[in-house]
Amino acid sequence: MHNIVLNNNVKMPALGFGVFQLHDENECEQVVLNALSVGYRLIDTAQAYNNEESVGKAVKASEVPRDEIFLTSKIWVSNSGEQKAMLSLEDSLRRLGTDYIDLMLIHQPFGDYYGTWRALEKALKQGKCRAIGVSNFYADRLVDLCNFVDVKPQINQMETHVFQQQTALRPYLDRFKVQLESWGPFAEGMNNFFANPVLSKIGARHDKSVAQVALRFLIQSGIIAIPKSSHLNRMEENINIFDFELTRSEMGLIQSLDTRNSVFCNHQDPEFVQALADFVPGSKQSWKKSGF
Ligand SMILES: NC(=O)c1ccc[n+]([C@@H]2O[C@H](COP(=O)([O-])OP(=O)(O)OC[C@H]3O[C@@H](n4cnc5c(N)ncnc54)[C@H](OP(=O)(O)O)[C@@H]3O)[C@@H](O)[C@H]2O)c1
Repeated sequence: MHNIVLNNNVKMPALGFGVFQLHDENECEQVVLNALSVGYRLIDTAQAYNNEESVGKAVKASEVPRDEIFLTSKIWVSNSGEQKAMLSLEDSLRRLGTDYIDLMLIHQPFGDYYGTWRALEKALKQGKCRAIGVSNFYADRLVDLCNFVDVKPQINQMETHVFQQQTALRPYLDRFKVQLESWGPFAEGMNNFFANPVLSKIGARHDKSVAQVALRFLIQSGIIAIPKSSHLNRMEENINIFDFELTRSEMGLIQSLDTRNSVFCNHQDPEFVQALADFVPGSKQSWKKSGF
């Protein structure tokens, strides 16, 4: 597995596996076990996904040593603030059955996220996290945070795929040496993703699928990706992207698919912000929208 070195010298796999929307406990545990068995070593969960416990069980049940697995979780908005965030991090550690989390992120730039950041800085010092970062921090929030904290984020996990390439954010990530990680690398299939003619044509040249071309594009652009699939054959397909290379002109063709817009949500939309503020992990609320 290819690794990326973060700004604090921690190595992180370039390709991982996401578990958003895997609500059923047994299914989630089995899916993560399958992902580990086909070679994924980075697993991305969150307090808001209500499945940290299943991920923890799968990590324990697998034959892969804990120190070969890179675990990511995220602190939800309702747990923001220094004290609450620290307590919620302890809860995440307990649910995941581990005494450290490789990467802990602030899930959304809302609530008292400065307080949350101070808790994460402390957790980093105490060894409870090996790396810390943010998610869904568009350029204005990222620049603000980076200017007023001691430790700069190692990661910003953003909606990133061929239709939303985060072009406006990239110079600011470079400025503060924050690594971009893609969530929704297939745009969850939106915009007829898996039948995209440009990606299909390029895939045919390399004997690769649309999914493989889309992931290869991210990896070749220096972006970490965490695709999700419940199907073993697709997990294998999605990890099998390190034996071919897109040419410069193919990279250019894919770059031209960028619409510079989200296919899911708008973090400046007050109703979306309200929905995020209303959601409490562990409650029986269901996801009304994607983008968590
Ligand atoms: N930080 C955030 O706010 C945030 C937000 C969203 C997601 N995330 C993270 O990012 C991860 C990935 O994003 P995502 O789960 O939203 O969406 P995604 O990975 O873009 O897409 C997942 C969808 O693609 C399908 N799929 C996967 N591989 C395929 C293949 N080879 N061919 C055809 N279809 C395929 C899956 O179906 P099957 O499962 O049926 O195979 C599923 O419906 C999440 O799991 C989560 O960890 C973070």
